[in-house]
Amino acid sequence: MTVELKHFSVKHIPELCELLNNENVSKWLLVVPFPYTQQDAEDWIKHCSETPEVKKDFAYAIESKGSLVGGIGLHIKSTHSAETGYWLGEKYWGNGYMTEAIKKITDFGFNELSLARITAHVFDGNIRSEKILLKNGFELEGFLKKSHKKGDTFLNTKLYAKVI
Ligand SMILES: CC(C)(COP(=O)(O)OP(=O)(O)OC[C@H]1O[C@@H](n2cnc3c(N)ncnc32)[C@H](O)[C@@H]1OP(=O)(O)O)[C@@H](O)C(=O)NCCC(=O)NCCS
Repeated sequence: MTVELKHFSVKHIPELCELLNNENVSKWLLVVPFPYTQQDAEDWIKHCSETPEVKKDFAYAIESKGSLVGGIGLHIKSTHSAETGYWLGEKYWGNGYMTEAIKKITDFGFNELSLARITAHVFDGNIRSEKILLKNGFELEGFLKKSHKKGDTFLNTKLYAKVI
């Protein structure tokens, strides 16, 4: 299985709506609403076109065989560090797509952007995500109590990092 990282475009809107209107996916993500509407997808595409690499927010559509299977991003935090975030549509879980996509985004971060540290905050309980990070050479650095707030709910997260 091979995935490609592409820029998001309007052609992704129908698949974004289909894949992200799923609480099994969005409950693990800080900023993705549920239900996920056509308007949410349109706003996301607009956001991606307005905040390209210039603003140091890199967001990519993950495609396999021409279909959108998920998304992955790098948010630059400092001259040497960035945070990654990612998701796959539920019907695409278990195929190794994200292991490949994380390798691509971390290679890009370390090799093209000269980063020294890439982090991921995983909501407590998201075992699949933790395994994917461990497979990609990330290490657990700590357990952060109430580090994030989604709506009215505080969330504990596990901080993972890959440092070179
Ligand atoms: C996180 C995500 C990208 C992982 O992708 P995936 O394709 O589901 O991952 P996999 O199916 O390859 O599973 C990863 C590992 O977790 C294991 N796993 C799955 N469920 C498990 C469970 N309940 N307990 C223990 N291990 C479990 C799998 O066996 C696999 O391990 P292995 O490679 O050693 O066999 C995907 O589940 C997703 O998009 N989830 C919703 C959004 C999200 O969580 N984003 C990340 C936010 S930090």
